[in-house]
Amino acid sequence: MSKSVAIVTGASSGIGKATALRLARDFGAIVLAARSGEKLSEVGQQVKAIGAEPLVLELDLMAPTAAEVVVKKTLDHFGRIDALVNIAGAVVGLDVFQMTDEQWNTGMELKFHGARRLTIHAWDALRESKGAVVFISGNAAVIPQAGAAAVGAINAAIEALAKAFAERGIEDRVPGQQRFAWGDHDGPPIVHARKGGDF
Ligand SMILES: NC(=O)c1ccc[n+]([C@@H]2O[C@H](COP(=O)([O-])OP(=O)(O)OC[C@H]3O[C@@H](n4cnc5c(N)ncnc54)[C@H](OP(=O)(O)O)[C@@H]3O)[C@@H](O)[C@H]2O)c1
Repeated sequence: MSKSVAIVTGASSGIGKATALRLARDFGAIVLAARSGEKLSEVGQQVKAIGAEPLVLELDLMAPTAAEVVVKKTLDHFGRIDALVNIAGAVVGLDVFQMTDEQWNTGMELKFHGARRLTIHAWDALRESKGAVVFISGNAAVIPQAGAAAVGAINAAIEALAKAFAERGIEDRVPGQQRFAWGDHDGPPIVHARKGGDF
């Protein structure tokens, strides 16, 4: 039987890197997607040491064609997709009165549209494998925070998107999931957010 394959976006650092390394214990292959090729290669070495086969994809997920490339290269290489974990995102934690249109658009383009496009492109392969999709949100989606306006609004949009995919997933047998990623737990989330943390 061919090996199970997980795609992890934002795998070059932080939550994405930690997720990739954890999934390397359960999946036969991990596709690592982000812009920093060098960092991804280092994560790839660690994935290999854990026992899974890495595939490094150095690309900008804001590019409209990136999702197609990720799915095509994954299928060309491994022939299947069992999990898609949408983590890439680096939304600037600015106050709602300071955010520029460009900053709003950049956050939305990567974290929301990047994940949306990738999920749509991977859907048929996930349906075939009875695979799963995970989206990363954050608690600013549900707790009012002027100081983390964009990240909260974009995370709320991500949750609505996850619910839409989840409903279709019931029909197509592709579970859509929401996962809350929390901060460093050094205090209540609202306090952390006021410090400008990314929620
Ligand atoms: N840290 C927290 O406390 C927290 C809490 C709640 C939610 N979250 C969410 O969790 C996700 C990850 O957060 P993190 O703290 O782990 O952030 P991070 O360490 O800054 O990682 C962000 C990841 O996204 C990738 N990325 C950024 N722009 C990209 C682009 N244009 N194309 C492809 N990849 C791109 C980065 O890789 P490259 O720079 O190499 O491209 C990196 O791998 C974010 O969506 C964040 O909103 C974080």
